[in-house]
Amino acid sequence: MPLTHTRDLFAKALKGKYALGAFNVNNMELLQAIIEACEEEKAPVMLQISKGARDYANPVYLKKLIEAAVSTSTIPIAVHLDHGDSFELCKQCIDEGFTSVMIDASHEPFEKNVEITKRVVDYAHKHNCVVESELGHLVGAQFDEGEEGGAFSAGGHYTHPEEAVEFVRQSGCDSLAIAIGNSHGAYKFKGEQHLDLDRLKAIKKALSDAGLGDYPLVLHGASSVPKDLILEINKYGGQLGEDTAGVPEGDIEIARRVGCTKVNIDTDLRLAMTAAIRKVFAEKPKEFDPRKFLGPARKATKELVRHKVRDVLCCSGHAFD
Ligand code: G3H
Ligand code: 13P
Ligand code: ZN
Repeated sequence: MPLTHTRDLFAKALKGKYALGAFNVNNMELLQAIIEACEEEKAPVMLQISKGARDYANPVYLKKLIEAAVSTSTIPIAVHLDHGDSFELCKQCIDEGFTSVMIDASHEPFEKNVEITKRVVDYAHKHNCVVESELGHLVGAQFDEGEEGGAFSAGGHYTHPEEAVEFVRQSGCDSLAIAIGNSHGAYKFKGEQHLDLDRLKAIKKALSDAGLGDYPLVLHGASSVPKDLILEINKYGGQLGEDTAGVPEGDIEIARRVGCTKVNIDTDLRLAMTAAIRKVFAEKPKEFDPRKFLGPARKATKELVRHKVRDVLCCSGHAFD
């Protein structure tokens, strides 16, 4: 089965009211874990490749690995550039056959963000590719003690509904990553925090009221940073901060129902891998066969992905809709 176009996965997800898991791929074991879990769950999936992943694994290796995944599985698979930071990188990925790219110019002023996004959109649309862009700043625990207003700042960084409408209209982007209290990495919040789900509803409504239909929104930074994984890593020699929390999975379920069609998860997979590897190293210090620690790491990551697609994103069983 060839790649499935991101546009088709989005259309079905919007219709079926489920979210697509967008999982980051950096190496073979991560890819196998994601594909095996989604194959068994009969879930469509988006594989996303960051600039860092391309630098680490080499674009050609990644392309061949994904070809292998596509040819050994039956589920729909789309391939997406995560956080493209330039027109040139987006163009490279479009030319390589990615079914979607993200241009992330969210650090730029509104007008410049529109201009950069529009340039990518114009090229992508001529080459059968769709574009995700981002509006707003993903603030999280890094602002905890800062002058920005705390971990759950209400000021300045979040996506404004009216601006989202203007941004989509002017840039022509096909999906929009929004800032509603989400942030990347393992240190999002101290203590339990929640996404600004009212804002999410307002953004979705504003887009619909403006005639943009059931417009797909994207939730970055959607890892939940499971406490048990943090504790497991530390039990086996890790030194991760234990006073950290991610996005509650209940919030992600609501975000899915409100209209986040693509949900990006990377950190939780990293934590699952790391915990499994540390356990082997701690319990079997004489082990040095990489298959003996990468194998358990792959298995743990697979179970984590299975949980996400089945229990949180509700895309299990939708592969062949
Ligand atoms: O949001 C970023 C993703 O987690 C990818 O991270 O740039 O370290 O590959 P990376
Ligand atoms: P996490 O760091 O929460 O997994 O977010 C990943 C992400 O947004 C990738 O674009
Ligand atoms: Zn992201």
